[in-house]
Order: sequence, then C-alpha cells, then structure tokens
Amino acid sequence: MLEVGPLDAFYGDSHVLHGVRLSVGPGEGVALLGRNGAGKSTLLKALLGAGPRATGPVAFEGRPIEGLPTHRRARLGLSLVPEDRRIYGHVTVAENLALARHACPPGVAPRTPAEVAALFPLLAPLLSRGGARLSGGQQQMVAVGRGLVPRPKLLLLDEPAEGLAPLIVEDLAREIARVRRAEALSLLVTEQNVDFARACTDRLYLIDSGVIVFSGDWAAYDARPELETDYLAL
Ligand SMILES: Nc1ncnc2c1ncn2[C@@H]1O[C@H](COP(=O)(O)OP(=O)(O)OP(=O)(O)O)[C@@H](O)[C@H]1O
Ligand SMILES: [Mg+2]
Repeated sequence: MLEVGPLDAFYGDSHVLHGVRLSVGPGEGVALLGRNGAGKSTLLKALLGAGPRATGPVAFEGRPIEGLPTHRRARLGLSLVPEDRRIYGHVTVAENLALARHACPPGVAPRTPAEVAALFPLLAPLLSRGGARLSGGQQQMVAVGRGLVPRPKLLLLDEPAEGLAPLIVEDLAREIARVRRAEALSLLVTEQNVDFARACTDRLYLIDSGVIVFSGDWAAYDARPELETDYLAL
C-alpha cells in the first residue's frame, strides 16, 4: 500500500532524514517510534509533500506519488492528523468535522459528522459543542475523526497520545484500534508512548537522528530491552 525509500529529507541545508525505508501493508497498523527531534513529523510531512524538501521514491498503491502536490496525495487516500491538532475553537465539533470535506477524492462522498460519530461513539455527545470547550483527549478524538472524514485508505497520526492523561490514552488507543479493524484502514502512527503504539499497531520502526535503527514486530522489540533505553528513554 505504502512503499517509502530510500528517502532523504531536508530543511534548507539541514539534512534530517537519511535513507529511510518503510512500508505499510493494506489494513496494517505500523508505528514509528523515536525521541523528540528524531524525524517522525518530518517523515509524515514528507509523505504528503508538505514542509521538508524530500528526495527519494514514495509509492502509494503501486503508484509513484513523490512528484504530486499535497492535495493530490490527499485525494489518493492519504490523510494526516498533525501533532498540533488544529481544532477551531469558535465553531462546533460538527463544523470542525465538516471542514475536512474538501480532501475527498472525486466521486467519493465524505463522511458526515454523524457517520464519524458512529465510528467514534465518544464523539456523538460532543457534536454541537464548541471546539474551545473540549478537553485535550476530546480534541484529539475530533482531530482523528476529522482525519477520517475523506474516507482515507491510509491514516497518518502524528503523536496522538502526546499530552493526554494515561486513562484517556488507553481509551484513544482502543478506539483507534477498533476503527482500524472495522474499516480495514491502514495506519502509520508516530509516538513516544510505547503502550499506546502497541495497542493500535502490528509492528514498529524505531527512528533515531533521521535513521531507521530497528524494524520488527512487537515480540522482536520486546526481545531486545536495550532498544527502549537506547532510542526512547530520556
Ligand atoms: N521547519 C523546520 N525547519 C528547520 N528544522 C526543522 C523544522 N522542523 C523540524 N526541524 C528539525 O528537524 C529534526 C527532526 O524534527 P521532527 O519535528 O521531524 O522530529 P520529531 O521526531 O517529530 O520530534 P517530536 O517528537 O518533538 O515531535 C529536528 O532536528 C528539528 O529541529
Ligand atoms: Mg513531531
């Protein structure tokens, strides 16, 4: 479904990603874990052609997309939920969801706010609430819901658990895992929270200073406890 690399990415003269290779299969959940500044957001933005200058192949459903502008990539079925969430405070949750309609591929009907709420029952009682009156966890749920409005094939989540209370993190991971299975959605999620990532993915990559340093399933990760110390612990 997604085949990346070897991919390099730059901000001006600063060389941030180095020969990154990564793939996500149809319906697969994949985590990209790494410390602050490792290059996680840079990779997601490079996949959408939004932000860093990237060089190297990116194929989506067998088709090269690295030359396409961001909105064309979105219309092929990639949807990014950025780390800063960007919920509009002065309009309702339903309106926040409706604002994501334009990213839909031609001929595909975007999910209505009611359809998004059917996917995420925790959102149903919030549809008429103002965006400014949401907790951090509710905001993140709205942000993920908004990412699902265009009926993406591949959802890209940038550190969804960041700043959320532990109980909310569990709820969010469970909801994302459920939606992923129900919709046969492919997922690439960046995280520093290992428990969250484990709860909603099948396997993981570790990235450090823009280099992929580990790739495997969770059992392979667990068999090497030094990975957490070397690449994730502060
Ligand atoms: N707009 C930018 N201009 C210049 N350098 C940037 C820019 N954005 C990020 N960087 C640098 O690129 C590197 C990778 O940053 P990136 O934001 O991808 O890391 P990250 O893994 O997402 O970190 P975090 O967990 O803090 O979100 C860092 O050294 C960062 O300082
Ligand atoms: Mg980031």
